[in-house]
Amino acid sequence: MPPKDSPISEQVRIALGERSYDIRIGAGLLGDPASWQGLPAAATALIVTNETVGPLYGAALKQGLRPHYRTVLEVVLPDGEAHKDWGTLNLIFDVLLANGCDRKTVLFALGGGVVGDMTGFAAASYMRGVPFVQVPTTLLAQVDSSVGGKTAINHPLGKNMIGAFYQPVRVVCDLATVSTLPARELSAGLAEVIKYGPIADLAFLDWIEANLDALLQREPVALAHAVRRSCEIKAHVVSQDEREAGLRAILNFGHTFGHAIEAGLGYGEWLHGEGVGCGMVMALQLSQRLGLVDAGFVQRVTRLIERAGLPVRGPDLGAERYLELMRVDKKSEGGEIRFVLLDGPGRATLRAAPDAVVRQVLAECAG
Ligand code: NAD
Ligand code: GLY
Repeated sequence: MPPKDSPISEQVRIALGERSYDIRIGAGLLGDPASWQGLPAAATALIVTNETVGPLYGAALKQGLRPHYRTVLEVVLPDGEAHKDWGTLNLIFDVLLANGCDRKTVLFALGGGVVGDMTGFAAASYMRGVPFVQVPTTLLAQVDSSVGGKTAINHPLGKNMIGAFYQPVRVVCDLATVSTLPARELSAGLAEVIKYGPIADLAFLDWIEANLDALLQREPVALAHAVRRSCEIKAHVVSQDEREAGLRAILNFGHTFGHAIEAGLGYGEWLHGEGVGCGMVMALQLSQRLGLVDAGFVQRVTRLIERAGLPVRGPDLGAERYLELMRVDKKSEGGEIRFVLLDGPGRATLRAAPDAVVRQVLAECAG
């Protein structure tokens, strides 16, 4: 459990049978050995981090882990979405093999979604699977990417195209890490928080609207509620559809357009959360044009996305390029793009849309 003197101490369970695990949410959890009690026994832990997060939080995590492991190793990856690739993934395997790490070695992903996705994929493949723990340090990773077991690297032809479903054994969200996050990254995380409202929980949407300023000011109690409620919604969805046979796709609201923006501009130009924020505006517009949701709701959510400091107009890639990029989305079937759209406020649905209507949306929302 989070330390007793921590003012915030939340826990959310992901129910997945023998792959169930807890998400612990609190402030100051990294350096507290109690955060790491009860993990699979091992002689060696490997912290996977990057050149930005390692110097900030590596020492605290090492301090928390030392009572539990004879050896605590660290590998420091280059920072950024542009490095979410095979070459960088290999740096993790190099350290594991050079140090003779066995199949009990526990990997700790200390960083944002990029480190988390790559560490998870490395854990899924090293010796056909070793345990890993998510230690997310961005808001985006705390509310979304660290939870649910999607792991991946990018391919130049498509985002997150090479990967595996592989669940962590625990997620530890230390809210104190959000204090050092650049403002642009905080906004990117808010995109994934906002996402849960329109697709699943209108009361949460109301709460975000009322508490957005507190979130932008990184007010700990507001952050804790946003992280907990987001994780609860995600846990509920993932517990029903771990491998995205259907329902889980709703968590990709805004992502089809967003991934096209990220890939079209070159990974790292726009942040993932920025692509999702703008992508949600496009998905809202598409839902409206298909008669699924009214203009008032579209305006309401667009305004919230804008208030969170996110872009609401897409770059001018050209409609044909957007369509081409969206066809390599994982939700596409037989070359037909399938979008997560709203089916009324608070409900999401996965549907195809005529290219002509998508072009109208792009004409309105991009360039
Ligand atoms: P990121 O991992 O690139 O982190 C953003 C930046 O913040 C980086 O420069 C990082 O070094 C820095 N940083 C991290 N923590 C910090 C801290 N506490 N203080 C200061 N700087 C800090 O980006 P992200 O937004 O966390 O994650 C985006 C990635 O997550 C994308 O690759 C996306 O595809 C993936 N993602 C995966 C899932 C999933 O379900 N697996 C869901 C959503 C997003
Ligand atoms: N971020 C989408 C998912 O985890 O399914």
